[in-house]
Amino acid sequence: MDYISVKARAKINLTLDVTGKRPDGYHELRMIMQTVELYDKVFVKKIEKPVIKIKTNLEWLPTDNRNLAYKAAEVIKERYDIPGGVFIELKKTIPVAAGLAGGSADCAAVLYAMNILYNLKIKREELAAIALELGSDVPYCLMRGTALAEGRGEILTRLPACPEAWIVLAKPAVGMSTAAVYKAIDAIDGYSHPDTEGMIDAIKKSDINAVASKLSNVLENASIPMCPMIGDIKKMLSDMGAVGVLMSGSGPTAYGIFKDKETAQKAADNVKKTFNIRDVHITKIFNI
Ligand code: C5P
Repeated sequence: MDYISVKARAKINLTLDVTGKRPDGYHELRMIMQTVELYDKVFVKKIEKPVIKIKTNLEWLPTDNRNLAYKAAEVIKERYDIPGGVFIELKKTIPVAAGLAGGSADCAAVLYAMNILYNLKIKREELAAIALELGSDVPYCLMRGTALAEGRGEILTRLPACPEAWIVLAKPAVGMSTAAVYKAIDAIDGYSHPDTEGMIDAIKKSDINAVASKLSNVLENASIPMCPMIGDIKKMLSDMGAVGVLMSGSGPTAYGIFKDKETAQKAADNVKKTFNIRDVHITKIFNI
């Protein structure tokens, strides 16, 4: 096998809680992650020349080692003594710097692809450890589905599948620095925390109304003051029939959960027009 094509899917946070600060500067997290159908197409091909070459449909995206997909190929090539190189084509649809783990999903897809293409037989735990070196969300992106993520995001517990629903994602036309949001949250206190156990219960009961009522992300307290449009989009999605709304990750993407496609479509059209934003997607919960 010389090449492989992988769908690298986005995630949303159903909950995100910060439970402490770690000696290494990272935050101790407790969050429920959910894969959605929206994906980037990641094509990985073996080449003879010992180089890593990335082509992408977004001309402004770095194609060197600032790109997590490049880093994934580089680390595997070095650690497993691969003499040749790889050509990677990223067809990006997931908004970038959005809180949807698009870069982490591409990175996980390259790790997965390299393991298969070079028949490396890297064990799941070993690949997960490499994934964590590359980014806090990468181990989850290898796992996918519904999961509780703790620690930096790498202590993963599989949960039952989240009930199906339509999801409208809307990203204001700003990038959000994850590091800046985590820094800002340190200066804020007195905010309320998610009912993580309640969300797990709702998922176990496959009750979409209960899931919608338990959506909660403490990072909204830092991100919404930086980008008030996140709050405005949430309100519009709610007014247009979403059963629940939330910001994903460190933002700035806001999403709404909808029970039917028509209502989701109308809400998406309205948000796109009102806020004059390009990055609006209608997608679905994706269970593996
Ligand atoms: O691990 P990753 O490179 O994705 O993290 C980006 C930034 O987000 C980190 O440099 C850190 O500032 C912040 N972060 C954190 N605690 C986490 C995950 C990320 O403080 N658990």
